[in-house]
Amino acid sequence: MASITIRQLDDDLKRQLRLRAARNGRSMEDEARTILRSASSGESVEQSRATALTADMAPVARRAAPSLSRSEERRNRILLIIGGGIAAYKSLEIIRRLKDRGAEVRCIMTKAALEFITVLSASALSGERVFVNLFDATAEHDVGHIRLAREAELVVVAPATADLMAKMAAGTADDLATAVLLATDAKVLLAPAMNPHMWAHPATRRNVALLERDGVIVIGPTAGEMAEAGEAGIGRMAEPREIVCAALPFLYGSRAQQSLKGQRVIVTSGPTREPIDPVRYIANRSSGKQGHAIASAAAALGAEVLLVTGPVSLPDPVGAKTVKVETAQQMLAEVNRGLPADVAIFAAAVADWRVDDPNANKIKKQPGATPSLRLIENPDILAAIGHRDKDRPRLVIGFAAETEQIIEHAKAKLTRKGCDWMVANDVSAGSGVMGGDCNTVHLVTAQGVESWPPQSKEAVARALVARVAEAVSGAQP
Ligand code: C5P
Repeated sequence: MASITIRQLDDDLKRQLRLRAARNGRSMEDEARTILRSASSGESVEQSRATALTADMAPVARRAAPSLSRSEERRNRILLIIGGGIAAYKSLEIIRRLKDRGAEVRCIMTKAALEFITVLSASALSGERVFVNLFDATAEHDVGHIRLAREAELVVVAPATADLMAKMAAGTADDLATAVLLATDAKVLLAPAMNPHMWAHPATRRNVALLERDGVIVIGPTAGEMAEAGEAGIGRMAEPREIVCAALPFLYGSRAQQSLKGQRVIVTSGPTREPIDPVRYIANRSSGKQGHAIASAAAALGAEVLLVTGPVSLPDPVGAKTVKVETAQQMLAEVNRGLPADVAIFAAAVADWRVDDPNANKIKKQPGATPSLRLIENPDILAAIGHRDKDRPRLVIGFAAETEQIIEHAKAKLTRKGCDWMVANDVSAGSGVMGGDCNTVHLVTAQGVESWPPQSKEAVARALVARVAEAVSGAQP
């Protein structure tokens, strides 16, 4: 039996199929199936549409989400459509800020956006593949435009150009961005950016009014200097911070019951630096990504969060009070100062030893004379808090980074350090956990051991704070 793939069709046919699929809210494969079915049965394409949607889309949907319900699939996922304007560079900051708040960000870039920023920067920041073409032979089977539209809890268009808004108002679907905007049933938030004359033009005014009537939320633009020399007026894109503030209430974490509201949570994160002399120190490879993600996730559930962090190159999580320290002793002092708290989560990679008596001046290099360092033990912050009689948080959680016998060592630490839960993970050289974006953890409690699947550090953080919320308030976040 002959087989034909969409890739083999000629360009014009492909273009027609793509537009038709976009108009009908189907993948190209499904559109082709619908056309073939109607041709073979003699029924019109319109008649066959209903059958196709129920018969064909069901397995597609099942394949797309083997274990998650649709609402879980969309939870905290934002689709950011980056239009072609000079403000596109600010959309990179929007990605970063949304991720800091625990959102998963998928990006679509219009062709015009590619003139301003690169796919590489958007994908590096989002940690996901960036989509550009409506017809993409690899994505169509995997993450086609319908899935992109379906799997977002919120769609943010930033910058929204005059052209993109005109197309949206008209219901045009001639590229990936507009096809997705037509196919989505998620809330759409637009951050327009354009020249003040374009913003003031009656056509744009009409389009904005129409879009607002359709339920689209428009944030900005604001007044200010434009990219064009000497131009000023209303047309500057709203600041990333404002756009993120407007977006957050539509995400699950914000909408859902604020299950950690009223709870005080202390989180430690990052490495510590133990001085050898004023310029040299002992440290480790911890990036702080896991601890910072936990602080963000707890803040997103309404907790009052104190993050005590060693030196990292990460932004402070939004919604948490961040205190920066260098040494283990300083970290312990700040954690003690932060008590009382309901929950304490110790994700920092604290140096076990420090130099006994750091030199006040830089140790001079002398040929043939290698200085020796006398190390002494650092305070164990987790054990100190876990064994407190007074002001011990109700839930004390440690991390056990191990390279062998992970669970056994974690269980021993749970008892030794007086904590309630231990999150154990493999940090051996090949695991890529230290400094990486993913983590595979086992939650060790008095009730037993749960092994979680490999997932991003943000996902580990969300899952962990969800369990914390359950434990401290009995509420499902
Ligand atoms: O003993 P180990 O360093 O493997 O224990 C790891 C756990 O203890 C982590 O939760 C870490 O944050 C915490 N810890 C600490 N203070 C130290 C050493 C470890 O809080 N000095």
